[in-house]
Amino acid sequence: MIGEVRVSGTSVKDVAARAGVSVGTVSNVLNRPETVPPATVVKVRAAIEELGFVRNDAARQLRAGRSRSIGLIVLDGGNPFFTDLARGAELEAESTGTAVVMGNSDQDPAREAHYLDLFEEQRVRGILISPVGEIGERLERLRLRGTPAVLVDRKAELPDFASVSVDDVAGGELAAEHLIGLGRRRLAFVGGPLGLRQVGDRLEGARRAARRAGIELRVIEIPQLTVINGREAGVALLRETESEWPDAVFAGNDLVAMGLLQAFRMTERIPVPERIALVGYDDIAFASAAVVPITSIRQPSELIGRTAVELIEAQIAGSSPIRHVEFQPELVVRASTIPTFTETPRQHGPV
Ligand code: RIB
Repeated sequence: MIGEVRVSGTSVKDVAARAGVSVGTVSNVLNRPETVPPATVVKVRAAIEELGFVRNDAARQLRAGRSRSIGLIVLDGGNPFFTDLARGAELEAESTGTAVVMGNSDQDPAREAHYLDLFEEQRVRGILISPVGEIGERLERLRLRGTPAVLVDRKAELPDFASVSVDDVAGGELAAEHLIGLGRRRLAFVGGPLGLRQVGDRLEGARRAARRAGIELRVIEIPQLTVINGREAGVALLRETESEWPDAVFAGNDLVAMGLLQAFRMTERIPVPERIALVGYDDIAFASAAVVPITSIRQPSELIGRTAVELIEAQIAGSSPIRHVEFQPELVVRASTIPTFTETPRQHGPV
């Protein structure tokens, strides 16, 4: 039975009368159409269309206690990594008739707190979050009040929270080992803030590879992982005397790598990779489409989103213990490290 609140001036009763069926049949067509004979479904849907009936989910929520949506809070709504992740979450959620509502914290704790409040008030089924900082206590309070959470893009340290992420330390090692394997010896890491777990882990991996090779790794911290910050870091690097330049840069993500590429190619026309080789992280669609296709460390972004929804639904159903799913990163070689390397651009989601 759905809420009797009138929206657009039409009620379920009006639809039932128009279709010549019971109110319960209308409710079944809306909530469990597979239980209704197809011809009746067609008749009811025609009546809904003719009358302009719109279901009011607020009433249903009041009865059911939970909405049919999942909240997703990402660090950077402008980063295709997160929109790819959101797409994967949506595809998985659709299979259970659930919607995903995305909020962007922009790495701002206040914005993140606002979305946590909003999603709890909206009585979402659960929250998927790529946290800005340490919010374990906040998530524990939410959980005790009935809103579970799954950490995405970050391994959870808390016993009551599932998580799905990629081994970013291994990803950083892959990037640095690839550059060292090409004979590069003046490596630099450009990323930030270093306090962000994803950035810190990637740097740690690169440091381990550099240490094994007996070479220094220069660290250039930037405020956020954006194209602009990458471009500014690249321009600043090139203002140094050429003998100080690195011969290889590992960027904290593909957006930073694109900014660095702009600086190296467009402002100072530095041959990439001949003079400076470049590796990014995430393997977003723009990496393969860049003017010099960017070698990147691939994260299975859509699969991370799908898995996060599976984990939150399993928690809601109480059907599985808390799990931490950690995927392995993959090195995708392109022309920004090996000039002769060409690959057919990978098909991502709709571009
Ligand atoms: O937003 C920060 C970065 O962390 C993204 O580029 C993605 O790599 C995520 O893991």
